[in-house]
Amino acid sequence: MPRLFFAVWPEPAAARELERVGQELARLAGGTPVPADKIHITLAFLGSLGLDGVGAAVLAAARVKGAAIRMDLVRVGSFRRARVGWAAPSRPSAELLALQAALAGELRLRTFRLEDREFNPHATLARKVAKAIPAGPIETVEWRSRAFTLVESTGDGRYEVRESWGLR
Ligand code: 2AM
Repeated sequence: MPRLFFAVWPEPAAARELERVGQELARLAGGTPVPADKIHITLAFLGSLGLDGVGAAVLAAARVKGAAIRMDLVRVGSFRRARVGWAAPSRPSAELLALQAALAGELRLRTFRLEDREFNPHATLARKVAKAIPAGPIETVEWRSRAFTLVESTGDGRYEVRESWGLR
């Protein structure tokens, strides 16, 4: 079943650096590294949507005026239950927090039901990890995003960008 989510993506050089970190995490903790072209930070997970839902999501995103994102990813860790290893900033950029809050607000106005959990920005770098990854520092990876996107995760594991909005 196709599922939709909003995300920001790194520039290609950062994606390649993060791919290498994911390969190292998978070597240490088991699991499958995420390929460079699939590395992203999810802003909002929408789940399966019909045409009306996709239309409402697009209208919500069009209302959001975000600023370009610049931040440093400096640490790795894992979510045990989800069995994913990730990289994250020491502190998320104010622009990223503002973008996520604005988007979530516009989505909720259109009756999307999002997670209540606080936004915990992370880029998943390895999936199905066999053991916990001790929280620790990595060599800094500079993350820059000048757009955010609505993406469909197709049943066969591919991501298809449905639409993209610029961040100034
Ligand atoms: P993850 O990277 O932490 O696994 C596409 O699947 C994106 O949506 C991934 O970034 C994934 O987060 C996120 N995602 C998938 N299922 C989700 C869910 N049930 N709740 C929140 N986010 C989810």
